[in-house]
Amino acid sequence: MIIGSELIFPDNLSSTNLYAAALLKKGKLREGTIVRTNFQTSGRGQMGNSWESETGKNLLISVILYPASIKADQQFILSKVVSLGICDFISSFLPEVFIKWPNDIYVSNDKIAGILIENSLIGNEIESCIAGIGLNINQEHFVSGAPNPTSLKILTGKEYDLDECLNSLAIALDIRYKQLLLGNIDEIDRDYISSLYRNSQWYNFSDCMGVFEGRITGVASTGRLQLEDRKGRIREYGFKDVDFL
Ligand code: BTN
Repeated sequence: MIIGSELIFPDNLSSTNLYAAALLKKGKLREGTIVRTNFQTSGRGQMGNSWESETGKNLLISVILYPASIKADQQFILSKVVSLGICDFISSFLPEVFIKWPNDIYVSNDKIAGILIENSLIGNEIESCIAGIGLNINQEHFVSGAPNPTSLKILTGKEYDLDECLNSLAIALDIRYKQLLLGNIDEIDRDYISSLYRNSQWYNFSDCMGVFEGRITGVASTGRLQLEDRKGRIREYGFKDVDFL
């Protein structure tokens, strides 16, 4: 097993991603090392947002990877791999698990996990990847005002052992990461597209021009979302350039 081969587990941290980055600055860590904590004082989300997590209730981890075969301009594949690993783990408890593009993990219409991938690049090479994952397990009340948060406990009514969850999650991530290392990119792409939230049917979206009806047709290797509009035109969007309504 690569992912989970080592565990670094301080009780609290500013952020597992920041701590992992600081450790990497001091020296190379074994590939697959997981940095975990029970509480983050500055948990970081996408686009400068913060990440809420009550002490000892959820999984807060960063996984360190060295995906030498992936070029920097193809780095979105890492988001797909990590998203699929989390989906595989949650699907062992619940149906209706989706990836809301680019990499929010949803159950039905609620967000159960977030991913913050921070890669260190040298030219077109990925020197190291820190894959930060916040996965809501036992938290029942959320106060930060983040839209539609949920957790395994809210959805199933059961309490979960966090160590057992981490073991199962690490196995699921490891399987997907090995798919990548073996070069099974088509399989990853296919599973990612078929797991996408609001895939295939017509839904309302909005961009800088206003609201329109669109249908997801694909995701470019750069990670840009491809939508068809009612006039049959394909529109491509970067993160935050389009909203799901
Ligand atoms: C998002 O905005 O959806 C991404 C949230 C990512 C949160 C996780 S928690 C563990 C890791 N450390 C951080 O500071 N952020 C990520």
